[in-house]
Amino acid sequence: MSDLLVGTDYKEEILRLKEELNAVILAHYYQESEIQDIADFVGDSLELAKKAKSTNADVIVFAGVHFMAETAKILNPQKLVLIPDPEASCSLAEGCPADQFRKFREAHPDHIAITYINCTAEVKALSDIICTSSNAEKIISQIPPEKPILFSPDRNLGKYLIKKTGRNMLLWEGSCIVHETFSERKILDLKLRYPEAKLIAHPECEEPVLMHADFIGSTSRLLKFIQEDSSTSYIVATETGIIHQMKKARPDKIFIPAPPQDESCSCNECPYMKLNTMEKVYLCMKNKFPAINLDEELRLKALKPIERMLEMS
Ligand code: 13P
Ligand code: SF4
Repeated sequence: MSDLLVGTDYKEEILRLKEELNAVILAHYYQESEIQDIADFVGDSLELAKKAKSTNADVIVFAGVHFMAETAKILNPQKLVLIPDPEASCSLAEGCPADQFRKFREAHPDHIAITYINCTAEVKALSDIICTSSNAEKIISQIPPEKPILFSPDRNLGKYLIKKTGRNMLLWEGSCIVHETFSERKILDLKLRYPEAKLIAHPECEEPVLMHADFIGSTSRLLKFIQEDSSTSYIVATETGIIHQMKKARPDKIFIPAPPQDESCSCNECPYMKLNTMEKVYLCMKNKFPAINLDEELRLKALKPIERMLEMS
């Protein structure tokens, strides 16, 4: 932290700048609790994309990862989209470079490409329809049964969707480093210790973890589930940031973060999401930088499959 910023009340400054810039702060559930608490809206990937599309603000401050802020810019070319840390990437986006994805598509010209929103604008531009974990099943169910599908880049979500929809899709071999960290053995140990706790999991988790889950869903579905369900405790197999909203929604319930294989690390926290801090949120608003900039031709190509997603979900 720079010396100049010692003593700065980030919350107060951020709220002041929000008025000054006519800005909206959008935050993903995996952000630090204090960032979630100053956000105008906290949501999952789909909800955040929808909010980004509908906002009247002049400036969007996107407290999430790069592909999310980029999606907001694709939907809002005229708005200034700020990202607290442009290094906040995603292992799924990084594991699917556009040149290799292009070859994947070219090798299967008869397939329709449904691509998870966790990818770069270049990969979106090469896709037919974007999806998130909230709407993937719904979107796949609208594809004519005879049409073969390429699903990229998350193989775990892909495998889960094949099981759920009965569609035999061709999968890109990508994964989320956070959701692959959970240990089936340690989760089973926890289940023995807390037999009344339900295991709830994000579909980016690997099959052996999903196999034991009482409920599987996107971050917002998990949050909804714990509010409506009658159990009083849950083992939560997704990034730990969501537990902040779970505790706020149901302070009477117990939420146990699913343990990573190596308990000496914080591998159940997304290292990209956690790059964002209150200081960086403040600085990006103060400096109106870093901002997302996109080539217009690329933006228009990437917009098409996002619009198809919004129409279909
Ligand atoms: P959702 O917000 O769609 O549940 O996705 C989780 C995630 O890993 C975002 O990067
Ligand atoms: Fe990407 Fe996984 Fe982090 Fe989400 S949690 S941003 S999928 S690395």
